[in-house]
Amino acid sequence: MRGRIPDSFIDELLARVDIVDVIERRVPLKKAGREWTACCPFHNERTPSFYVSPAKQFFHCFGCGAHGSAVKFLMDYERLEFPDAVEELAQAVGLTVPREGGREAAPREDKTDLYALLDSAARWYEGELPKNAEVQSYCRKRGLDADTIARFRLGWAPAGYDGLIKALGGSDRRMQLLTEAGMVASGERGHRYDRFRERLMFPILDRRGRVIAFGGRVLSPDQGPKYLNSPETPLFHKGRELFALWQVKQANSNLQRIVVVEGYMDVIALHQAGLPIAVATLGTATTPEHTEVLFRAAPDVVFCFDGDRAGRAAAWKALDAALPRLRDGRQAYFLFLPEGEDPDSLVRKEGKDGFEKRLKEATPLSDYFFGELSHDVDTASLDGRARLAERARPLIAKLPDGAFRDLMAQELEKRTGARANVPAEPAARRAVQRPVAVQRSLVRSAIALLLAQPGLADLVEAPYRFLRLDKPGVGLLAELIDLCRARPGINPAMLVEHFAERPEYPSLQKLMAAMVVGEPETQREEFLGALARMDEQATALRREALTARHREGTLTSAEKAELRELLAARRPTQAQG
Ligand code: UTP
Ligand code: MN
Repeated sequence: MRGRIPDSFIDELLARVDIVDVIERRVPLKKAGREWTACCPFHNERTPSFYVSPAKQFFHCFGCGAHGSAVKFLMDYERLEFPDAVEELAQAVGLTVPREGGREAAPREDKTDLYALLDSAARWYEGELPKNAEVQSYCRKRGLDADTIARFRLGWAPAGYDGLIKALGGSDRRMQLLTEAGMVASGERGHRYDRFRERLMFPILDRRGRVIAFGGRVLSPDQGPKYLNSPETPLFHKGRELFALWQVKQANSNLQRIVVVEGYMDVIALHQAGLPIAVATLGTATTPEHTEVLFRAAPDVVFCFDGDRAGRAAAWKALDAALPRLRDGRQAYFLFLPEGEDPDSLVRKEGKDGFEKRLKEATPLSDYFFGELSHDVDTASLDGRARLAERARPLIAKLPDGAFRDLMAQELEKRTGARANVPAEPAARRAVQRPVAVQRSLVRSAIALLLAQPGLADLVEAPYRFLRLDKPGVGLLAELIDLCRARPGINPAMLVEHFAERPEYPSLQKLMAAMVVGEPETQREEFLGALARMDEQATALRREALTARHREGTLTSAEKAELRELLAARRPTQAQG
């Protein structure tokens, strides 16, 4: 286990980096008043609704609701885990991430070592390939040219039980890493051996081009299983990774269409044929996570499957995974191949042009959707139409709000006469855009104002009288004020990042993203006003409680004195009531 990253370091880091700088390096920004703007990298749009605020050190998209600090941006944009995003930012500004409570040995190298080791493994397999005649003739038979072999870093895992172990497992630490990386397996009596033997090796790269796993294919059909993949490891999550996405990104700076096929060899054949737009899932069904990655890579995604039953089943799963991600501007297509063919065999027969023609003629998701749902119902009968409507409704409900969903609902109505009657998307997402100042809750307003201007905390006098108000969020507000006072000059993003591992984090992010209207001076008045009203409310509630118990005759003499004071302090208007 790596140790926890201390909060104070996150502070220092967020004070050191400039979010505009971090984002600008990945997404070109334009100046817009005090802020910077761009077309949102997290959804497809033509007019910019993505804003970066240098003052708040925060980004926010009014289109899709994405928002957060520089750390959050890196997590979302580069799909990094929190510690890795921190690591990357720290490197960029020349800081070393300290760890608390971790093991003393090599606290931060864990993953770095794993990456390095897997890279060495790939290099070792690459080096073995030219030494083996059998795999070379297999590559020739499959039409793989030298450039393709190099581009995909194909290699050969030789026969024997410990070739890789001998080459790379020189110490206990390295054996441990090989095991962690899924490169060695253990037999019954703890005997350890290479997982991949006598296989053509396909390294799986992550989106930054680092080796994170392997697939290995046997050369002859009588050895099974045909493909063996690395198990899930700290670096490799099958449901998230796509084979060759890195090569696709290297080959295309602005991609309109990406094609998902089923096999390693299909991907490679398409790339070699001049279509470097193909990726593959890794022996798993397409997950919603995959679809999100795909749509971030290109607005049009073509899912390509065998025409057989298994292929159709897999296609329907892909459709189901794609539905929630189909925001306006994104389109999914389905391409079914003739019996007995796969993209590899087809592109060899028909060439690049032939395959492109098939891609252009792929079935749009809406056609496939209604075709599949109505293939066994008789839409001429009332019964059949009812059944179709029943099947389609819950699926259409999965689509995000937007023009495409409206069109699908209309199409269903046209085909069945039934209203889709799809419930509207929960308002939560849109609420983000509403100014906090108009929200009713005093506590929420106070927190939002403080997040916009942490310096306001200095105006609050201790003890905090508003703490007597027993409402959700009051404790959090006090905590925030304490933090701001303890760290003068803290910026809003730093403040929120202190809560990264707390359940309140998402709500704080939302409040932060919400537009707080008004000039600093107005905000200051609103903030103090909110605290004063909380104080008043607490007083009124206490007075009511004591008055009620006074009628029951259960007050202590101290409480009686308190009540007298409370009644005397009432403002004249209230005293008359
Ligand atoms: P295919 O058998 O269709 O792959 O399996 P392919 O790429 O066309 O294989 P070739 O052309 O015979 O070499 C599709 C994918 O399913 C996974 C692999 O990811 C493979 O690329 N698979 C297949 C496995 O994980 N294990 C297997 O035993 C078979
Ligand atoms: Mn094949």
